[in-house]
Amino acid sequence: MKRDRRLRGLSSEHHHALVLARAVERQIDAWSTSDGARLRDRFDRQLEPHFFAEEQVLLPALRAAGRPDLCERVERDHARLRRAVTRASAGDASAARAFGAELAEHVRFEERDLFPACEALLAGEILDEVARRAPGESSPES
Ligand SMILES: [Fe+2]
Ligand SMILES: [Fe+2]
Repeated sequence: MKRDRRLRGLSSEHHHALVLARAVERQIDAWSTSDGARLRDRFDRQLEPHFFAEEQVLLPALRAAGRPDLCERVERDHARLRRAVTRASAGDASAARAFGAELAEHVRFEERDLFPACEALLAGEILDEVARRAPGESSPES
């Protein structure tokens, strides 16, 4: 299904998240604290702003639209990913493995279930606000 253009910024960030998840999985046999530090840096620069946009804009609107179930899943996943990255950044390889697998699964859930619900239920102003926070690689008009 074609994604609403205002969610394409977040969708393009999901693509980058999947690339990151695969990169972590490839490193896993020789996971080190410097891999952990690089992961921490990318998480803080790229994933935290993305998580914030979802938590601050999409979730309150989805909750008001009667889908607290989707919100709880997102919040649970984000909390689990934040815990895993903290442990992975300290050099914990099993946490890094869990992080990679859970990030990929989280992205699949959002693309398959969360974003279609947002497209169906949320007001235009909410999607406009998401597009302002995550404009994506092309202009918002394209
Ligand atoms: Fe998310
Ligand atoms: Fe997301």
